[in-house]
Amino acid sequence: MVAPASKLTPRHIAITMDGNGRWAAARGLARSAGHRAGLTPVRMCIEECARRGVEALTLFAFSSENWGRPAQEVGSLMGLFLEALERELEELHAKGVRLRFIGERRDLPVRLQARFAAAEARTAGNGGLKLQVAVSYGGRWDIIQATQKLAKECSSGALRPEDISEARFAAQLALAGVPPADLLIRTGGEYRVSNFLLWDIAYAELYFSARLWPDFAVADLEEALAFFATRERRFGHTVARHSAAKA
Ligand code: IPE
Ligand code: IPE
Ligand code: MG
Repeated sequence: MVAPASKLTPRHIAITMDGNGRWAAARGLARSAGHRAGLTPVRMCIEECARRGVEALTLFAFSSENWGRPAQEVGSLMGLFLEALERELEELHAKGVRLRFIGERRDLPVRLQARFAAAEARTAGNGGLKLQVAVSYGGRWDIIQATQKLAKECSSGALRPEDISEARFAAQLALAGVPPADLLIRTGGEYRVSNFLLWDIAYAELYFSARLWPDFAVADLEEALAFFATRERRFGHTVARHSAAKA
């Protein structure tokens, strides 16, 4: 059974940071300027989550499908990831953040792959906020890569197909060891999942904000948290039964 988070505060918040391109277009700027402006709310959310004792924060920065964007935009995003990481890593480390990147590493520039690995190693021992940044990530990719690992175990004889349980499967996913998402926030006004965490959002509360990501401010995050606090999470049970199971 899914263990409920505290009724009022999510243990794990996932955010689809959408609307950078529209934010830039509205100002007559290049899309890359919107992506750069999106770093401000990234810092704010990390800060706020750490301060409020949220256990995990997962940010959707670049999807499997975003590889289909013009090469110039993809290149500027990869450059921005590298630059932001170089600039912010030591401060994140000092704050006790444990940083991980989820997604298909092999498709990334080699230099970025190395930086990701180094940042993970540097912060691996930290006990503060678990921060996952999804780059070259797709929920379908994640399910496929987990399936491939289990299939290899089965074909080597180490695992019987009938022993594949939800727990064993989840242990192969990119977010293994991170509690399931309690709250999924999407900015930018679209009401869709766009291949973000498919397995992990099974019982997440969904919050959609019309705000374009670079404009997402503390008050907007507070609104999302206030929304979460009003939700009655039943996990498929009746209210009475769910309360009894918790007691
Ligand atoms: C989200 O903003 C960032 C990425 C997907 C990399 P967009 O770039 O999708 O911005 P819009 O949705 O076009 O405004
Ligand atoms: C989702 O936004 C991916 C990220 C925010 C990284 P998109 O802009 O790529 O999604 P669609 O195209 O609106 O579905
Ligand atoms: Mg978008």
